[in-house]
Amino acid sequence: MREIPFDELRLNPMTTVGREWWLITAGNEANGYNTMTASWGHLGSLWGRPGRNEMHGLPTAVVFIRPQRYTKSFVDREDLFTLSVFPKEWHSALAYLGAKSGRDEDKVAKAGLTPVFADGTTFFQEAKLVLVCRKLYAAPLTEAGFTDPDVLESCYPARDFHTLYVGEILKVLTAD
Ligand SMILES: Cc1cc2nc3c(=O)[nH]c(=O)nc-3n(C[C@H](O)[C@H](O)[C@H](O)COP(=O)(O)O)c2cc1C
Repeated sequence: MREIPFDELRLNPMTTVGREWWLITAGNEANGYNTMTASWGHLGSLWGRPGRNEMHGLPTAVVFIRPQRYTKSFVDREDLFTLSVFPKEWHSALAYLGAKSGRDEDKVAKAGLTPVFADGTTFFQEAKLVLVCRKLYAAPLTEAGFTDPDVLESCYPARDFHTLYVGEILKVLTAD
């Protein structure tokens, strides 16, 4: 994979995350890692500080992780997480990784993916695109924040609110 500047990235964020999905991964070889499929998330621009994109915002990714996910403990523990997007032929592997828990089995091996341990984090050799992110913000969604009660009732009947994580995109790696 080769690194490209984030402004050379050409994709539709809605279809990339919503239809192709991505793997959220955190951890490393020494302390263990885990991964899960996600189809909810955002890519955009946020915050910044003097000398560091204060006029344009930092390139950022937002992901949403429910409390039950084993991956959440790794994302909470680590400063970095990665987002890996795959070619079509890996879609069923992503469905598997989104149905099984790393608590119960080596699901990455079963899905046939190869972890790459680099930059103190983990992503996958088969990915076509990897975003290496540094956590900037993490907080659970709250019931009081919902302005549409239908979303609250349909997505959170058990009130198991996702934690929202904002990550600064430090590195964009592409296989193209
Ligand atoms: C297509 C798809 C999209 C998913 N999107 C999310 C998501 O955005 N957030 C989330 O918390 N779980 C999502 N999940 C569920 C997790 O991927 C799933 O519970 C997974 O088994 C968790 O694995 P873990 O326990 O090893 O972390 C999704 C699952 C699928 C199949």
